[in-house]
Amino acid sequence: MERLDKILSSQGVCSRKEIKELLKNKKIKINGAFAAKSDMKINPEHDIIEIDGVVLPYRKFLYIMMNKPSGVLSASRDKNTPTVIDLIPDNLRRRNLFPAGRLDKDTTGLLIITDDGNFAHDMLSPKKHVYKLYEAELDGDFNDAKKNILESGITLSDGTVFKPAKIHSDFNNNPRIVHIEICEGKFHQVKRMFEYVGLSVINLKRLRIGMLNLDKNLAPGECRLLTDEELTLIFNGHSD
Ligand code: URA
Repeated sequence: MERLDKILSSQGVCSRKEIKELLKNKKIKINGAFAAKSDMKINPEHDIIEIDGVVLPYRKFLYIMMNKPSGVLSASRDKNTPTVIDLIPDNLRRRNLFPAGRLDKDTTGLLIITDDGNFAHDMLSPKKHVYKLYEAELDGDFNDAKKNILESGITLSDGTVFKPAKIHSDFNNNPRIVHIEICEGKFHQVKRMFEYVGLSVINLKRLRIGMLNLDKNLAPGECRLLTDEELTLIFNGHSD
């Protein structure tokens, strides 16, 4: 059993303040009866919550898509630097949210934030073959020889192994912009892969995870809940 206000705010429906207002205006029903107190205890898995006549589908976990801006950390909390969690609006805030995988401070684009540890584990595990697509802007020209190296897999001098990547770009058209897909998430992996072939990454943006594309309507720093359909796209369509 949990407090009504805690459940509603955890569902990303409204803030605790807004809940008080809804209760005052008799807009919330529990199992068909008007709710009066924000601290009333209910069972979110069994009790039926209606807001303004609409039944609330209970979500055990939240899955948020963010367009990560440059300059914020992919971490839950930091004393000195803003984190992606700091950017989440009040109505989507939950205590246990964390970024599923890290983008560097200067990397932008698609980031999933959730409170579902098993989901994050599956999305990140190389064994699940969920490919992440990045657009890299380089300080020099890419070419077929470099493509072959990255697509064959690399072993760095310190023994670190990077599995074969998939290169998509028509780099004959613009040899400084390359689309690269990898299913691992090792530290600075994309940057280190390009370094291996003698190039520096000037800008890095993640465009897609699995078959889920970054929503073009999300400005840098904005986020929204994923739909159930979008959630399934993450684990769909890997091409190996
Ligand atoms: N690879 C990198 O080098 N940086 C990122 O942020 C993500 C992948």
